[in-house]
Amino acid sequence: MLRARLTIDPARPVGPVSRRLFGAFVEHMGRGVYGGIHEPGHPTADEEGFRRDVIDLVTEMGVTTVRYPGGNFVSGFRWEDGVGPRDQRPVRLNLAWHSTETNEVGLHEFASWLEKVGAELMLALNLGTRGTLEALDLLEYANVPSGTTLADQRIRNGRQRPFDVRMWCLGNEMDGPWQLGQRSAEDYGKLAARTAKAMRQLDPDLELVACGSSGAAMPTFGEWERTVLTHAYDDVDYISCHAYYEEKDGDLGSFLASATDMDRFIESVLATADHVKAVRGSSKSLAISFDEWNVWYLSRVPADLAKRIDDWPLAPPISEEPYTVADGVVVGSLLMSLLRHADRVTSASIAQLVNVIAPIAAEPQGPAWRKSTFFPFATTSRLARGDALDVRVDGPAYDTAAYGEVPVVDAAATREGGALALFLVNRSQADEVEVRLDLAGLGVSTVEEALTLSDPDPHAANTTDRPERVGLRPNPRATVVEGTLCVTLPPVSWTALALH
Ligand code: AHR
Repeated sequence: MLRARLTIDPARPVGPVSRRLFGAFVEHMGRGVYGGIHEPGHPTADEEGFRRDVIDLVTEMGVTTVRYPGGNFVSGFRWEDGVGPRDQRPVRLNLAWHSTETNEVGLHEFASWLEKVGAELMLALNLGTRGTLEALDLLEYANVPSGTTLADQRIRNGRQRPFDVRMWCLGNEMDGPWQLGQRSAEDYGKLAARTAKAMRQLDPDLELVACGSSGAAMPTFGEWERTVLTHAYDDVDYISCHAYYEEKDGDLGSFLASATDMDRFIESVLATADHVKAVRGSSKSLAISFDEWNVWYLSRVPADLAKRIDDWPLAPPISEEPYTVADGVVVGSLLMSLLRHADRVTSASIAQLVNVIAPIAAEPQGPAWRKSTFFPFATTSRLARGDALDVRVDGPAYDTAAYGEVPVVDAAATREGGALALFLVNRSQADEVEVRLDLAGLGVSTVEEALTLSDPDPHAANTTDRPERVGLRPNPRATVVEGTLCVTLPPVSWTALALH
């Protein structure tokens, strides 16, 4: 049995936990929209064709904000295709995901779905194959109450009230060679600044996100952020981060330490943003919108996807990850990294939500069910309230091929009034860890809830045949004795504790 000791100083909170940290991402990709959230004819479909079983799971997951409609898809998307009478909407090629887009679901339908799940809309603009004018058109259509051609068109299309979208992404992954309309950092920085300025002439209070690098492994990472922000710093509120992790070559030890990489990534982007702030003598600090993050087995995406010239299927299955317990543990730890940086990471979107790289599976004509990654997300969204607290961990460490020496135990905490939430990961593949925390000064004395995701087989997963094979189970080994919390974490596990 390994041992670790936690120390929390409640007088030094990291910052308030934004509810937008529990956002998700829905893209017109694979069976995310068609056959995912939308399946007219499904036994649970409502009058608009949205699956009620999926709505229930998204609600249970505690998703607060949804980024839409892409992703790479948005860089080839004309927003006008998705509004107006459905039978007149054009059918197009989805070049990003080599499929056919019917435009049956567009802005109106998606906003209506969001009302059903109780989440906020975060819209991404096409700055790949389009520009400032089209962005302004969409803003006018979505947000102007009435009295202009586009606002009145929205009203004729059935929506009297404006959509009042507050958060806008100025393009998607504009540094990526795979992106339609990929741009240099100089070109993109100028375009983002121009577009942001123009949008603010309509509404100065919009919250605007400039594209950061597509990932920390991009060859221009760091320099991209510096150049883009040199042009756009004054005009935007957020810089985006995207990160996907996978277990490579059976190296579970490195994979379980993915949050170490996310911590470094966030801190590097903040350092770059703060460098630009200093150079400009600005008093404003940028926040991070971590608007794509997840475990994604990108190495399994067919390399020839883009070469299947004659094959443009409707909603083909893409990246319907089986998600193991280890994947769920990593998703839990990535959420802990976001919480640790709650002062500067104020918006995030797990990518994606249904079927595609998703915590929710929706079978055609069949049931919807939870994958392993669903559980840490739903529980963190439910319990992480108030302020994030700084947690010091004294305990064992181990070596990883990818990140050097990392702690065996990872921890994050939040506190709201008399409720403390503690999130813990044991990265050891062989040993249990007994974790202790002196509760003096924290104002809590009882364990109300203790839930753990683990399994003797870290590669166990839920499946169509056994959709409840893995999940959260009560952890009976969490007690408070004489003011000290003592909890035992099984190997490869994620645990949430609610103390009052
Ligand atoms: O989420 C899937 C894809 O990953 C998105 O379309 C893109 O932005 C990223 O590369």
